Amino acid sequence: MKKTPIAVLISGRGSNMIALMEACSQPDFPAEIVLVLSNRPDAAGLETAKQAGIPTLCIDHKNFGKDRETHERAVDEAVRASGAELICLAGYMRVLTPWLVQQWANRMLNIHPSLLPAFPGLHTHEAALKAGAKEHGCTIHLVTDGVDEGPILAQARVPVLEGDTADTLAARVLEQEHKLYPATLKHFIETL
Ligand code: GAR
Repeated sequence: MKKTPIAVLISGRGSNMIALMEACSQPDFPAEIVLVLSNRPDAAGLETAKQAGIPTLCIDHKNFGKDRETHERAVDEAVRASGAELICLAGYMRVLTPWLVQQWANRMLNIHPSLLPAFPGLHTHEAALKAGAKEHGCTIHLVTDGVDEGPILAQARVPVLEGDTADTLAARVLEQEHKLYPATLKHFIETL
């Protein structure tokens, strides 16, 4: 089967990247990871991907000062050079410029740990608890200019349980993230 080449962008641990790696290793999964790119040299996921034989690259945003677009031009060039046709943001903790968003319009997916449009931005689990939400979850969406605002492709829900802390709730959501991202990517590619 033809596998669509994808780039996975990370900033840290990379557990969603691992879920995508595991899915991509299945012969009948319609994607292959041709690049894992991080904006942080200490992202643990970089080493994990390297160990698995996946090409990795760090383009440290700190080397670009406040010039976000020049950093993103370097990211864009690396992704194109890898042959990737889609970008999966997987814990890539940068607000993107309209320039990069435009380059990859309808070809860049993001995972966000809340049921968007509820709780965009950071600290979503704390926010859900503070708001007294009865349900929480995660969202896969296309990336557009507005932060965490693009068209929603899929969501997974979990209950908020009595006694939950941000950590217990995050763990329950993360379990769903690891299932939702590969499943949504598969469906997205198959309906392209
Ligand atoms: C995940 O929970 C992901 O949804 C979230 O960061 C975590 C990364 O974990 N992303 C965002 O908050 C994006 N705004 P991981 O590195 O283990 O996949």
